[in-house]
Amino acid sequence: MKRAKISVIGAGNVGATTALWCASAELGDVVLLDIPQTETMPAGKALDLMEAAPIMKFDANVQGTTDYDATAESDVVIITAGIPRKPGMSRDDLLATNAKIVGSVAEQIAKTSPNAFVIVVSNPLDAMVQRVLEVTKFPPARVMGQAGVLDTARFKAFIAMELNCSVEDVHAMLLGGHGDTMVPLASCASVGGIPVTQLIKPERLEEIIQRTRDGGAEIVKLLKTGSAYYAPAAAAAQMAEAIIRDKKRVVPVAAYCDEEYGVGGYYVGVPVVLGAGGVEKIFVLDMNESESAAFQKSVDAVKKLVATMKTLV
Ligand code: NAI
Ligand code: 2OP
Repeated sequence: MKRAKISVIGAGNVGATTALWCASAELGDVVLLDIPQTETMPAGKALDLMEAAPIMKFDANVQGTTDYDATAESDVVIITAGIPRKPGMSRDDLLATNAKIVGSVAEQIAKTSPNAFVIVVSNPLDAMVQRVLEVTKFPPARVMGQAGVLDTARFKAFIAMELNCSVEDVHAMLLGGHGDTMVPLASCASVGGIPVTQLIKPERLEEIIQRTRDGGAEIVKLLKTGSAYYAPAAAAAQMAEAIIRDKKRVVPVAAYCDEEYGVGGYYVGVPVVLGAGGVEKIFVLDMNESESAAFQKSVDAVKKLVATMKTLV
């Protein structure tokens, strides 16, 4: 059977780490692309990864390039191109610069990989994924954003740390945009099948939820020179795996919602079935009053962001 082809656009921290996770999981052959100004940097990172293969025991070709021809006919394209946050910056501060970068990347992908599934990682996520949909004109099921897999992973990690239990037994769901208004759902979190609300007191759970919302900023503050990349890259690779291996994973993804949740044609984080058809189904959850209000606030923030982006591009 032919190996899948995955192109990762942007060979920086998130891009190179995504290439590592994808290759080491043998999801397919990987092309790592950056701008011509980076010269041989993508080739250097790709060769370094190829040299890790005999130690880590994976069979995958990894190629570094600055030329879109090498990405032609990709099955999955993961966009990580753009600038990351520095301390004191919000994801939205990246809007003007990254809207231009991501728009130009989307143009190239539409030409070279017209049948690809596209996973957008660049921030501000919910606006960037909308930009890719507009520029590529691909069907919405093939264009999605990575945010919720990362944000729920943070939520799960904090719950596991709190209870000193295996992360494997923690399940969680989250809705809304990838920003300060995201809505981690306490009502959907469980540990070994036990509702988390029976294991962690409400005030402490609220602190964990707030830490989840601030998860990206916490890493930025610690790193000082950029933003998180190990967990974001692992999240993008998990989404690629769900598509390539038709896993039909139920995960929170920034998906195009029109009638769903009454969103009206924007990308927001919702639970989806992710498989060989991309976003195959969106699950619409019943929310309690406070969750519903928080979700609406998050959707409004996404709409505002997209409106601002439209004045900039
Ligand atoms: P980085 O600065 O390490 O890497 C970005 C790379 O993009 C650089 O190598 C740069 O040369 C490249 N680039 C710039 N313009 C390009 C273009 N037109 N075509 C191809 N490549 C281009 O940044 P990092 O840490 O890898 O973050 C990348 C993006 O991902 C940022 O916008 C960041 O905010 C976002 N991010 C999103 C997350 C999410 O959960 N959605 C999580 C973590 C980061
Ligand atoms: C994060 O959540 C910066 O969006 C990035 O880590």
